[in-house]
Amino acid sequence: MQPALELSIYTLLRMAFIWQLISTAIYVVGSLAIAAFLYDNFKSLVCIIKALLEPYFQPQLPQTLLDKYGKWAVVTGATDGIGKEYAKELARQGLNLVLISRTQEKLIAVTNEIEAQYKVKTKWIAVDFAKGREVYDEIVKELAGIPVGILVNNVGKMYDYPDSLDNVQEDVLWDIINLNIGAVTMLTRKLLPQMKAAGKGAIVNIGSGSELQPIPNMAVYAATKKYITYFTLALEQELAEHNIAVQLVMPLFVVTKMNQYSNTVMQGGLLIPNAQSFARSAVFTLGKTSVTNGFWSHGLQYFIMKMAPQHVRMLISHEMTRRLRHEYLNTQGKNKVS
Ligand SMILES: NC(=O)c1ccc[n+]([C@@H]2O[C@H](COP(=O)([O-])OP(=O)(O)OC[C@H]3O[C@@H](n4cnc5c(N)ncnc54)[C@H](OP(=O)(O)O)[C@@H]3O)[C@@H](O)[C@H]2O)c1
Repeated sequence: MQPALELSIYTLLRMAFIWQLISTAIYVVGSLAIAAFLYDNFKSLVCIIKALLEPYFQPQLPQTLLDKYGKWAVVTGATDGIGKEYAKELARQGLNLVLISRTQEKLIAVTNEIEAQYKVKTKWIAVDFAKGREVYDEIVKELAGIPVGILVNNVGKMYDYPDSLDNVQEDVLWDIINLNIGAVTMLTRKLLPQMKAAGKGAIVNIGSGSELQPIPNMAVYAATKKYITYFTLALEQELAEHNIAVQLVMPLFVVTKMNQYSNTVMQGGLLIPNAQSFARSAVFTLGKTSVTNGFWSHGLQYFIMKMAPQHVRMLISHEMTRRLRHEYLNTQGKNKVS
């Protein structure tokens, strides 16, 4: 009996030790995962609070966008939606503007509206970013002599409505790649030397919350926005030593003509702001945090979505785009806005 008893006590002790090791490992891994999650999700909020307190503790630092980055801002895709409201908000804060977009008449109307309302200088450049490489030299020529302090890479395009890849026209896919990836990359490349020479500046890249997971029926759009996320985050590190701020803005749904395929989205609401509310809130974060969803309820939705595994998020996104596609096809031709 004695050796058997000793053996079982020894076995029990060994099991207790192994259990102790396992629970310690779970505790350490769990704590690290929670710390990483909290860091990822609350860093932006902490940065904003810190920036709001800065004037009280370091009043000698530049506080306004004008003082921080310079007198001129360039906004792409500035004749509609988020870009137009970004431009108006920057003008409200005293910045002169260069608006770049496709349609000349709309550019003239928006620059006239801004000049009348805010007494700032404006200039417009009409180019079609879908043409690819050829437009950038023209833009650089037009920008000669303008000290650009802030570049807002806003121009972007989605499919006409969510659909499977083989149903989307090839021209539309090229446009999406040229606008969402090409324009952001090349304009940044063209304006960086000037900002580096000035020793200050800000680049704002409008990505999208759709970068959070692959999105079936919006596959190319979501993938281009993932590019924006990685491009922007890498640049932020590259340019920190040059005093150039690089900000990633990832909106969720905003009421703009990009979403005109869906009556549900165009109705707006607490979770889907209009472009003016969104842009006011997003511009408020400029110079305060480098990564943001731009609007409080978008931050909340993004935070909640992030808690689910990527595969679950993708399944949910797929269901959402399937419904939006059905909604569009059911109401085809009846829900277009001008
Ligand atoms: N709306 C949303 O729900 C949402 C959500 C997440 C992210 N975003 C991102 O936010 C950004 C702005 O979106 P939005 O909804 O405000 O778009 P929007 O209302 O469709 O406005 C697009 C702007 O880009 C210009 N543009 C379009 N194609 C162009 C081209 N080929 N060359 C030059 N300019 C062109 C348009 O000019 P014209 O007036 O001449 O067409 C317009 O000024 C995009 O990057 C988008 O991906 C939007």
